[in-house]
Amino acid sequence: MDIQLEHFDKSIQQDISIEPKDWMPDAYRKTLIRQIGQHAHSEVVGMLPEGNWITRAPSLKRKAVLLAKVQDEAGHGLYLYSAAETLGADRDDMMDKLIAGKMKYSSIFNYPTLTWADVAAIGWLVDGAAIVNQVALCRTSYGPYARAMVRICKEESFHQRQGFEAMMMLANGTPEQKQMAQDAVNRFWWPALMMFGPSDDHSPNSAQSMAWKIKRFSNDELRQKFVDNTVPQVLQIGLQVPDPDIRFNEETGHYEFGEINWDEFYAVLKGQGPCNHERIEARRKAWEGGKWVRDAAAVFAQKQARKKVA
Ligand code: 3HC
Repeated sequence: MDIQLEHFDKSIQQDISIEPKDWMPDAYRKTLIRQIGQHAHSEVVGMLPEGNWITRAPSLKRKAVLLAKVQDEAGHGLYLYSAAETLGADRDDMMDKLIAGKMKYSSIFNYPTLTWADVAAIGWLVDGAAIVNQVALCRTSYGPYARAMVRICKEESFHQRQGFEAMMMLANGTPEQKQMAQDAVNRFWWPALMMFGPSDDHSPNSAQSMAWKIKRFSNDELRQKFVDNTVPQVLQIGLQVPDPDIRFNEETGHYEFGEINWDEFYAVLKGQGPCNHERIEARRKAWEGGKWVRDAAAVFAQKQARKKVA
C-alpha cells in the first residue's frame, strides 16, 4: 500500500491524471463519487425549473433555445453519472440516495421559476456560476471528471449567453419587462452566490479536495471570480445588483459584497427550501415511472449477450 500511496501522491503532485484503473485511496474515490454524483443530480434536477417554462416560452425561438438547453442538461447528467460509475458507483444506488435525501443536488434548484425572466436569470446567473466552477474542474485530478467538464463547459457557454441575451432584451424592453428582469435578479442573485458552497472556513471537504487537486480553487475564490465577472454585466444592461454593500475596490481589483444569508443556505440544504419537496417528488415519479424502460432494456441486453455466446 505504501508504494501505491507514494505513486498516487506523486501523480497528484506532478499533475498526472488519476485514471479509473489506477490505485487510489478509498477516501479519494469516496469523495469523488460524492461530488460527481451530486453534480450529476444537479444537472438533472436543474432541468425541472427550466422545463416548467418550455410550454410557456414567449416565442418559438425562445422555446427552441430553451429545449436545446434543457436537453443539454440531461446529457450533462448522464455524462457525469457515467464518470461516477468509472469509480464503481452504481447509478440505481445514486438515484435511490438522491430520492431518500442521502445525496445532495445544488441548492439553487430549490427556488421557483415564477416568471420568464427567471429562466433568463438561470441561464445567465446559474449557468454563469456553474461555468466558473466547471472551468476550474476541467483541471481536476480525476481524468474522466476533467474530460467530462471540457465537453460540458462548451455547452454551458451557450447556456450563459442565451440567458444573458434574454435578460438584456427584457432589461431594454417595456418598463414592466425591465421590472420583471430586476425582480428575477433580486431573487436569483444571492442563491447563485450560494452555489459555490459554504465559506472556506466552514467547508469540511475543501482542504482535502484541494490537497488532492479535485478542487483547484476554494469556494470563496470561485465565488469572488463569479461576482467580479457578473457585476459589470448587471450594470451594463441597466439593472441593479441587489446588494447595498457591493462596491469595487480599486486596490484589490475585486468587488466587495455583503454577507451571504448562511441560515437560508443551510435551511435549503436541510430540505427547507421553497421547492425541495417538489423537486424530489418529480425525480421519484420519473425514476419509478421509468422502471419498465430500464427493465426492458436490461432484458434486451441479456438476450443480446446470450446470442453472442451461442
Ligand atoms: N448546494 C447543495 N449542497 C452544497 C452546496 C450547494 N450549493 N454547496 C455545498 N454543498 C454541500 C456539499 O456537498 C457538502 O455536503 P456533503 O459533504 O454532504 O456532500 C457540504 O455542503 C459542505 O460543502 P463543501 O464546500 O465542504 O463541499 P465540496 O468541497 O463538495 O464543495 C461544491 C461544494 C463547490 C458544490 C463542490 O461539490 C462542487 O464543485 N461540485 C461540482 C459542481 C456542482 O455540483 N455544481 C452544481 C451546479 S451544476 C449546474 O448548475 C448545472 C448547470 O448546467 C445548470
